[in-house]
Amino acid sequence: MLRIRACASDDLEALYAISLATGDRGGDASALYRDPRLMGAIYSAPYALLEPELAFVAEDADGVAGFAVGTCDTRAFEDRLAAEWRPRLRAGTSPPDPARADRWTADERRLHQIHTPTPTPDWVVAAHPAHLHVNLLPRLQGRGVGARLADRWTASAAARGARALHAGVNAHNTRALSFWRRQGFAEIDPARRDGRTVWLGRRLAP
Ligand SMILES: CC(C)(COP(=O)(O)OP(=O)(O)OC[C@H]1O[C@@H](n2cnc3c(N)ncnc32)[C@H](O)[C@@H]1OP(=O)(O)O)[C@@H](O)C(=O)NCCC(=O)NCCS
Repeated sequence: MLRIRACASDDLEALYAISLATGDRGGDASALYRDPRLMGAIYSAPYALLEPELAFVAEDADGVAGFAVGTCDTRAFEDRLAAEWRPRLRAGTSPPDPARADRWTADERRLHQIHTPTPTPDWVVAAHPAHLHVNLLPRLQGRGVGARLADRWTASAAARGARALHAGVNAHNTRALSFWRRQGFAEIDPARRDGRTVWLGRRLAP
């Protein structure tokens, strides 16, 4: 029995665990990280905390195993991350040495994102201001649950005024790329692809 429901505050640990278990191009990243919370600290937890009305989970008999999180206004969300979320992540950590960037560990790459974040490009946000992330543990993958979560998230975002969405996908994550395309997304501007992230967009019917 699978249930899609609003994310609750005590789901946060499950979100961190799912982000880690799907953090290596969609596969398990737990062997790559010393700090198991870094992936979730970037890709799931702050959304659940700062945008709780746009955070949903999929739960089966064994617990929460998937989520959809996001925001209607990517730029405003980035501002809130800078003011309300990253300062506490930075506390007690140092930015990794740029001179060793080609040898950064996975933790160091995430710490770099936390200390020196790169905003989503203007050409992505301009026409597609909302964005979302959908992640499922392997036991829920390939069963239509991603689409159910994305549909629930999109209906909620549309009710809050969202008219166009984007998703940023690792270019090597072929499964996610075909998933988003089946959800009606298309690459926003293939000529501007930076080699690592594919930016896909979708306009919602008025
Ligand atoms: C990418 C991801 C969100 C896609 O969600 P998903 O529900 O697994 O969706 P998929 O498109 O892979 O699988 C749908 C499959 O379920 C099948 N399916 C079974 N029952 C279904 C149903 N009731 N409704 C729809 N599809 C169903 C479909 O036929 C489809 O199979 P196919 O790919 O052979 O055509 C999910 O696999 C995931 O979380 N992966 C790891 C993390 C990740 O990469 N996240 C995205 C980062 S951008």
